[in-house]
Amino acid sequence: MKALIIGGAGYIGSHVARHFLDNGHKVTVFDNLSTGQMVNIFPDEDFIKGDILNQGELDKAMAGGYDLIIHLAAFKAAGESMIKPEKYSVNNITGTINILNSAVKAGIPNLVFSSSAAVYGEPAYLPIDEEHPKNPENYYGYTKLAIEQFLGWYDKLKGLKFAALRYFNAAGYDGKGRIKGLERNPANLLPIIMEAAAGIRDRLSIFGNDYPTPDGTCIRDYIHVSDLATGHLKAAEYLVKNRQSLTVNLGTGNGISVQEMADKAKAITGVDFKVEYADRRPGDPANLVASSEKAFRLLGWKAVHSSVENLISTSWNMYK
Ligand code: UFG
Repeated sequence: MKALIIGGAGYIGSHVARHFLDNGHKVTVFDNLSTGQMVNIFPDEDFIKGDILNQGELDKAMAGGYDLIIHLAAFKAAGESMIKPEKYSVNNITGTINILNSAVKAGIPNLVFSSSAAVYGEPAYLPIDEEHPKNPENYYGYTKLAIEQFLGWYDKLKGLKFAALRYFNAAGYDGKGRIKGLERNPANLLPIIMEAAAGIRDRLSIFGNDYPTPDGTCIRDYIHVSDLATGHLKAAEYLVKNRQSLTVNLGTGNGISVQEMADKAKAITGVDFKVEYADRRPGDPANLVASSEKAFRLLGWKAVHSSVENLISTSWNMYK
């Protein structure tokens, strides 16, 4: 396959690109390097510096002729999206509409989209399957849900087939150490724990230990980026073969608490970093765990790299 990976210089995009290349596919990365990094561009792929807000740059890139687009270019800080919704409207929504319009013009038949568990909001039941009500609690999650709806319309009206992959909590790094760029200013739990263990920050603050969970801290479904990468390739193969759109969760079905993650990280890194208990962070559900049964059924996909040990040790290899 010939894939155009938009946002392919970023944390998840670079892992996806590496996996496509490893499986013999041709990859071109399109990225504006606002959060993506040149160190994440591999010698065996092509790179186009461009912006999804520039229709001309997208048209030019897509004239290269591709079997599919993988679209991972988005802002993703849920908290920030509540303060600066304009930024999320322009980049996530306008940027995606530009991508769809250029794809239709260029006749590219398939698109794999990075959606998010944030489309569901507060869980009504667990594990969360794809039929769960969609009530995003933050504007970021709303942009992902709105984009899924645009994808449905472009499929119906223009025949552009899509795979919307609803990631749960992405974490970890390539086990072979081939991804070189560390995320800048991380806001997520595991990179923050790694920064505490590496001495880049002086402590981990656990946001709330009075949740209705066994140890009082929030539970999440952490999915290793290498598992996300295989999910993208399987979804791409499905689209090319079946010419049918799909929406699936990518998670493990296993919950890990913040406290467990911190304790395991201390054991694996051998660093007894400081942990403090702070107030709850607004908008954090107590427990978020995916059912990925549909991804298994349609794609034969399941997580195999996402043990808590592997999430931490592949991250620690990057930070230590
Ligand atoms: N946490 C802390 N301390 C920190 C950082 C996080 O205690 O310094 C806690 C949070 O309160 C939460 C858990 O760790 O309970 C995970 O927090 P993250 O910020 O890493 O992740 P979220 O679950 O809030 O959100 C992530 C992505 C979203 C995505 C969601 C899907 O950032 O984009 O997973 O489940 F939508």
